[in-house]
Amino acid sequence: MTNHQQTSQIDHYAVIGNPIAHSKSPLIHTVFAQQTGQAMQYEALLVGTQAGEFAAAVQRFQASGGKGLNITVPFKQAAWALAAQRCQRAERAGAVNTLWFDDQRRCLGDNTDGVGLVRDLTQNHGGRIEGQRLLILGAGGAVRGVLEPLLDAAPAQCVIANRTVHKAETLAELFAAHGNVTASAYEALQGQSFDFIINGTSASLQGELPPLPDGLLAEDGWCYDMMYASTKTPFVRWGLAQGAACALDGLGMLVEQAAQSFYLWRGVKPDTAPVIQQVREHLG
Ligand code: ATR
Repeated sequence: MTNHQQTSQIDHYAVIGNPIAHSKSPLIHTVFAQQTGQAMQYEALLVGTQAGEFAAAVQRFQASGGKGLNITVPFKQAAWALAAQRCQRAERAGAVNTLWFDDQRRCLGDNTDGVGLVRDLTQNHGGRIEGQRLLILGAGGAVRGVLEPLLDAAPAQCVIANRTVHKAETLAELFAAHGNVTASAYEALQGQSFDFIINGTSASLQGELPPLPDGLLAEDGWCYDMMYASTKTPFVRWGLAQGAACALDGLGMLVEQAAQSFYLWRGVKPDTAPVIQQVREHLG
């Protein structure tokens, strides 16, 4: 067998974003591929943010024989627009983080972020969302992407709090068919209590926290930060200070959303636990 034949049997995947150097996706998917014996290669592609650059990059990738892509900030909405067909949860989210190409060369899209979050909470950590009072902080793209799977896990109540309240209201209306979901300003949370508080704001990136009143977290309540870092994020520290029974960052979600993308592409489910540990060590 020639080298060329050997290479042509390797399927190519990539993550597209800007910036992209920090992405852990190449590490995660390379370990998944080794673990499951899949002949694939996965790289990170930096793409410019000028109009049309993203679509051109996806086209080039497909033309060169690429099989599938992960999409990260700031291109998830552009990926949604580009997909010829979208899975239902991606449809309403207005954001796509996974693309692949079918036999007719059509571009298909899904959003695996919410599945990743719910799996990390419930399967990896034994949390229960059903019947619980859920508070979600933020109403940007990250929250849009996870709302449907979270609501489908049947919380008793889901409040979306955001600095710009009308954005939370828009999301509450959009997802009303999926459960008891309402919008709130941060100030209006005073005196309320929640079993689960999920941070979907980007405040941690500036080392900040949304203005949260004390007493917001119920006894034995859980906190989950969709962000992750090498040290405890400000929101994880807040949760611990408020007596959370469990305060988690989003590293598990990152690996679980990747595992669902991998499953969509390859039809094989990787074992995520050792990969979460490996990425954690890599961060440290
Ligand atoms: P992403 O794709 O990460 O969700 P985004 O769509 O820009 O990014 O949304 C960022 C979210 O974090 C928004 O909900 C934003 O609140 P506003 O809609 O009021 O802007 C929220 N956010 C960012 N910095 C924040 C801060 N310092 N305090 C509270 N909320 C913050």
